[in-house]
Amino acid sequence: MGYDNKSVLITGAGSGFGQRLAERLSGLGARLVLGDIDEAGLKATEALCVAPVRLLHCDVSKEADCQALVTAGVDAFGGIDVAFNNAGMGGHAPKPLHQVTEKEFDVTLRVNTYGVFYGMKAQIPVMLQAGSGVILNTSSVAGILGAPFLSAYAAAKHAVIGLTKAAADEYARKGLRVNAICPAFADTPIMDGVIGHLGLPKEEAYAKVSSRVPMRRVADIDEIVQAMIWACSDENSFMNGQALAIDGGLSAV
Ligand SMILES: NC(=O)c1ccc[n+]([C@@H]2O[C@H](COP(=O)([O-])OP(=O)(O)OC[C@H]3O[C@@H](n4cnc5c(N)ncnc54)[C@H](O)[C@@H]3O)[C@@H](O)[C@H]2O)c1
Repeated sequence: MGYDNKSVLITGAGSGFGQRLAERLSGLGARLVLGDIDEAGLKATEALCVAPVRLLHCDVSKEADCQALVTAGVDAFGGIDVAFNNAGMGGHAPKPLHQVTEKEFDVTLRVNTYGVFYGMKAQIPVMLQAGSGVILNTSSVAGILGAPFLSAYAAAKHAVIGLTKAAADEYARKGLRVNAICPAFADTPIMDGVIGHLGLPKEEAYAKVSSRVPMRRVADIDEIVQAMIWACSDENSFMNGQALAIDGGLSAV
């Protein structure tokens, strides 16, 4: 896969995809710089890694934090070869668009969209200097489809794909690849909010949310993380500017 000795940055590394990604990439020999607002989560991730990692409290909605995470990676490992702008949150309970408050809309975009913008702003100059780099932004199937009752989240994740496509062209001739991944429902802690809102046991809630997914189930966390690892690997050298849906077929119908 080509991760041995690579310097890899992951945001949202204290839970879910980011945590599993860190564990897997550490096993592949990557040197990791990990950011999250959840410091206990980061410590738990560190315990899963086989090599020393750099941990930093990083709120991706703050530009200075995103810059500090990159600086930590450069100081520790001499650069950033691969960056996963993965941190994200639902924003608010599902509700019709006209009931979404300005504050809820603002917070949802600050974390999910500005977090990716600030991340790439900080990472790209370092990659340009090296003449190479790979970025994967975590969007969602809600970045491709309308996601009813999650309008702020859908807007934020659509914007991630716009940023990804623009950057993919801007830096393609300078050695960088920039893609987005678009998971559908996957079994991570972010789903606790959805389950709580539905007020059903986990199994029934998962059956309900996946009722329109052709494969009629949610994803296992590794089914997404494997794709994230492959997307940024040396084995996948010509994919650029794509919104890669890993969604059991949801966006195909
Ligand atoms: N699990 C799913 O069903 C699903 C589907 C589509 C997209 N996603 C996206 O995948 C990404 C990872 O989510 P997950 O499923 O692993 O959920 P998760 O809740 O397990 O992990 C998200 C992590 O992001 C961190 N985070 C939240 N706000 C942050 C901030 N301001 N700064 C830094 N870190 C912050 C959280 O502390 C947490 O550790 C998110 O962008 C999410 O929107 C998830």
